[in-house]
Amino acid sequence: MLSLLYSALLSLTLASGVYSDGKNISVSTQVFASTGSNVTLPCRLNGDSDIMPFGTIGIRVKWSRMPEDETLEEEPFLVVLGLHTKSFGEFNGRAVMQGADVNDASLVIMDAVASDSGRYRCEVDKGMEDVVYEVSLQVEEAGLLNGVVFPYSPRLGRYNLNFHDAEQACVDQDAVVASFDQLFQAWRGGFDWCNAGWLIDGTVQYPVTKPREPCGGSGSNAGVRTYGQRDKSNSRYDVFCFVSQLEGVFFWLEQPERLTFDEAVQACADNGAEIAKVGHMYAAWKLHGYDRCDAGWLADSSVRYPISRPRKNCSPTQAAVRFLGFPDKKQKLYGVYCFKPQ
Ligand SMILES: *[C@@H]1O[C@H](CO)[C@@H](O)[C@H](O)[C@H]1NC(C)=O
Ligand SMILES: *[C@@H]1O[C@H](CO)[C@@H](O)[C@H](O)[C@H]1NC(C)=O
Repeated sequence: MLSLLYSALLSLTLASGVYSDGKNISVSTQVFASTGSNVTLPCRLNGDSDIMPFGTIGIRVKWSRMPEDETLEEEPFLVVLGLHTKSFGEFNGRAVMQGADVNDASLVIMDAVASDSGRYRCEVDKGMEDVVYEVSLQVEEAGLLNGVVFPYSPRLGRYNLNFHDAEQACVDQDAVVASFDQLFQAWRGGFDWCNAGWLIDGTVQYPVTKPREPCGGSGSNAGVRTYGQRDKSNSRYDVFCFVSQLEGVFFWLEQPERLTFDEAVQACADNGAEIAKVGHMYAAWKLHGYDRCDAGWLADSSVRYPISRPRKNCSPTQAAVRFLGFPDKKQKLYGVYCFKPQ
């Protein structure tokens, strides 16, 4: 439900629509914040506001929070009428009008807490017309979104994991199944992936930043697409894993020859380390800028290499962990990435 909303809101895009109560929504916005921060929910008066700037008699701004239960009336907690401001309700002085200039009716919520998450409305009543701005706020524990989301499918191939397999697959990569918010954040950062994967809430989704024919059609919008809740035992997809830190040292093993998979495992062990997992490579790449243009075995018997400085012959167009698949384990064509836990 929440994710459908996010897809519809499409982060920061302008949308026009008419509410069931006849009010026009002129802007829908998605705002992310971490706990403890001061977060601004945008609401600007524009157009004819030179004539009737905010702060003059005749304009009323009302901020309210939309109740979860849609049958309930929303209750305003901040009303500004001309030069008078009145605030009441749950925020207890934590919510103030930003008022950076005459057109600025944005709200600042100070010292945000997780329970501030929800939908807010800024209603600007200019007498003749009534405009509604809607802002969806998501407050996350600080740090929860700092990490990297990566798609995973096993050696068996695409769409082979039920939910429980998916959880295990991420654990096997020293990671966890990603949350929707983590995937959404990754999508905002440009993550685009055309295969659907499990998330920790039991939904199956995929992030599209560049709509195109095989991924929902080129005429469709960018967004995180959802298949909704799926049967955790019988539905099979890929998974999105999340890793937030690298708890050890990730390195390319310098050695004279290319190795089979078994030799690669042994070579890391001979060097007092273990063969690295997919989560280690993503963490090293994303969180530490690790860059190496050599294809190496990883613990799941896949072959990959991490590029953070795109260049000719090494992922020329984008920073990425390149994936060469799951080659025959006997092939002696690759090196190895190792990991030494702290
Ligand atoms: C939030 O705003 C208040 C009031 O302006 C300020 O005292 C406080 O330092 C701010 N907090 C953060 C985390 O910026
Ligand atoms: C909604 O917008 C239309 C066109 O901009 C306008 O004619 C109408 O009066 C607006 N409705 C409300 C309730 O403000």
